[in-house]
Order: sequence, then structure tokens, then C-alpha cells
Amino acid sequence: MINKVKIAPSLLSANFANLEKSVRLCEENSADILHLDIMDGHFVPNITFGPLVVSAIGRLTELPLDCHLMITDPDKYIADFVEAGADMISVHVETGFHLHRTLSTIKNYSCKAGIVLNPATPLEYAFEAAEFCDFILLMSVNPGFGGQSFITSFLRRCEKLRTFLDNNNLQHLEIQVDGGITPSNVRQVVDAGANIIVAGSALFNGDFRSNIEAFRRNIQE
Ligand code: DX5
Ligand code: ZN
Repeated sequence: MINKVKIAPSLLSANFANLEKSVRLCEENSADILHLDIMDGHFVPNITFGPLVVSAIGRLTELPLDCHLMITDPDKYIADFVEAGADMISVHVETGFHLHRTLSTIKNYSCKAGIVLNPATPLEYAFEAAEFCDFILLMSVNPGFGGQSFITSFLRRCEKLRTFLDNNNLQHLEIQVDGGITPSNVRQVVDAGANIIVAGSALFNGDFRSNIEAFRRNIQE
């Protein structure tokens, strides 16, 4: 049974010209995890950064680094992200021909392994792969950009997944949500069974401290 709800700021909405400042904001406000969006311009129509930047961030902080790989060939780069300091690595099921092998590779590096499902990807993928995962990320927007609107079908998908995990002795698995999460919908998302909350624009746009406090207030309500 998972009790703790974790907040994972997505640095995609941070100030890329001063990442250190954004990392300090996360630390000072007791964020639980740093969510790093790796995009290759192929699997998603946007390009961000790779292992070199992850490694530079890792040198700044002790916060766990969560690498969300939105790249076509994740197998090729897992070792590089581990080397760069990743503590959690998630791969999209839409990219994987040999998902079990990919997840085993990540775990063999003592890194937490997760799968990611796009909003329209059948949930059955998660049912089949759950036992090989430490966490499952259900996207609540189409991946590629920050600041998009929450897709509400997430809620029923998340409830179904949580029920599946509870019924199959997999209660310990964490469910992560990513995309369009704000203080206004975070309560619903937690009630649906998610416990790792990724948020980019709703934290970094405006005052980070009051934004994260609003998230926490609404989570605890
Ligand atoms: C989108 C990324 C997200 C993004 C979320 O593809 O995976 O992590 O930063 O941004 P917001 O919270 O603004 O929707
Ligand atoms: Zn992400």
C-alpha cells in the first residue's frame, strides 16, 4: 500500500539558462524527485537534452533523477543515462519491441524501471508488464511539450490500473502521472490512485513556492 504522494517537478518548464537556480528551488521547497524529459525529435516532435545535461544536473543535487525517455531507441542509451546518474528510468511501451529485456537492463543497473503509456495506448500493456516494473507512468497529455491540457480519460485509466495492481499483489508499484497537472486537478488524480505527481508549467510559471504549497494543500485536503 502506498501512502506517500511525491511531487516531481519537470525541469522542462524550468529556466534552461539557469538550471541550477531551478534545481535549488526544487530542493528548498522539498520536492521529492526531479523529472527530466528526454526528447529526441523523432519519437516526439521536440528535442530537449541528453546524458551530458543529466550528468551536470546530477552533480548539483542529491535529489533522485527520474529520466523520462521519449526516444525511439531507448535500449541504446540506457547505460548512458545510468552513467549520468539516473535513479529512475522510464521507457515508452510504444517504442519497445523487447520491453521485458529493456526493463531488466534498467534494473540490473540498480535503477528503478518504469514504463510509460501514451493516453490512447491500451492499458493492457501495463497489465502485462507491471510485474517487471517499479513504477508505471500514465501520460495525461500527448508527450512532447509542457503546458498542455489534462486529458480526463487519465482518471478512469488510472483507477483501472490501481485496481489491477491491488488485485494482483502489486500494491507496491507506484503510479506516476505526467501532463497538465495543476493544483485544481491534483486531488482527483491522487484519488484515482496516482502517487508520483509530475508538474512543469504549474510549478515553474509564477512563484514556485506558492505553487507547490497549493499542490500540497490540495493533495492533503
Ligand atoms: C511532456 C512531458 C512533461 C511536461 C509536463 O511530454 O513529459 O513532463 O514537462 O508539463 P506540464 O506539467 O506543463 O504539462
Ligand atoms: Zn515527462
